[in-house]
Amino acid sequence: MAKFNDSVAVADRSDEAVRGGVHAEAASGPSPGANGTRHEPPRSSGSLHDRAIGDILREVGKLKAEQVDEVLAHQRSHGVRFGESAIALGYASSDDVLFALAQQFHYPYAPQEQANACPELVALNRPFSHQAEAFRAIRSQLIMRMAAPPATGATGATLRRALAVVSPDTGDGKTFFSANLAVALAQLGERTLLVDADLRGPRLHEVFGMPNNAGLSGILSGRSEAQVIQQVAAVPSLYVLPVGVTPPNPLELVERPAFGLLMRELLARFDHVVVDTPAAIYGADSYVIAARCGAALVVARRHASRIGALRELSAVLSESPARLVGVVLNEF
Ligand SMILES: Nc1ncnc2c1ncn2[C@@H]1O[C@H](COP(=O)(O)OP(=O)(O)O)[C@@H](O)[C@H]1O
Ligand SMILES: [Mg+2]
Repeated sequence: MAKFNDSVAVADRSDEAVRGGVHAEAASGPSPGANGTRHEPPRSSGSLHDRAIGDILREVGKLKAEQVDEVLAHQRSHGVRFGESAIALGYASSDDVLFALAQQFHYPYAPQEQANACPELVALNRPFSHQAEAFRAIRSQLIMRMAAPPATGATGATLRRALAVVSPDTGDGKTFFSANLAVALAQLGERTLLVDADLRGPRLHEVFGMPNNAGLSGILSGRSEAQVIQQVAAVPSLYVLPVGVTPPNPLELVERPAFGLLMRELLARFDHVVVDTPAAIYGADSYVIAARCGAALVVARRHASRIGALRELSAVLSESPARLVGVVLNEF
């Protein structure tokens, strides 16, 4: 069984410490890595780059025009960056500056108001955090594993697969994981669809703060529903298909051929399709969904998931057409 390195845990324990580090970097000098400050031009006064940061902060209402001028003057006299000056003058926080940098580098990142509305989307709200970094690491491994050709001896082209996120129990973090993985995939600029196939306890619409009037259950029961796939405003290449009305017959719905056909059609339209599922304890839904998706990733919760349940889950998956692409240990 393919296994992710156990150290790739999506934990939030050291998050604050890491965030603190990023703050310090943003405020005090060259910072390698995701915020892109290493690409900044030399510390010249009023450079185009710094102007742009000021413009961005002004556009989002963080700085007034006269404050931008004051920051530029401070920057010139102290020979520091625009962001540092804005923070030093108390006009912007380091989060504001990171936000502006992310905008400048076209890196989807949620402003504070939205971060409050969707607190579980750590990959979007806190892209420089330890958790977001873990999601990016998992994303890289998954992209390689999903693209790997069939096992030795098999012939034919590599199949395109959707990824079902499965786990033994509720509360293991499937929904949290699928949502943030989808954000991380979409941050690459690739069209990514997140499907809520947890027809027993749908939650993705809550995580993204979007309506759930219509969705997968309607499509599978043959209702023609317009506009069921919703675009996530903060991440232009991310789309969500919620459940819609919670149906009385979830297993029957995912067992219908319509689900497999839908997956095939969606795979033709999106670069990545990530599918959230109900816990395995509720029945065969997650196995059936994984088989239709073609690939499965198991989420195990540290100090909660039982080895026996994980073994059983992977044994059933190994009998199914789904490729088990890995196990992620969720630590929270
Ligand atoms: N790595 C994590 N860090 C912080 N909170 C988490 C993490 N994983 C899960 N959670 C939280 O735990 C709760 C249950 O997670 P959820 O994704 O709904 O589990 P599942 O879908 O497997 O039932 C949610 O409130 C979620 O935000
Ligand atoms: Mg869930």
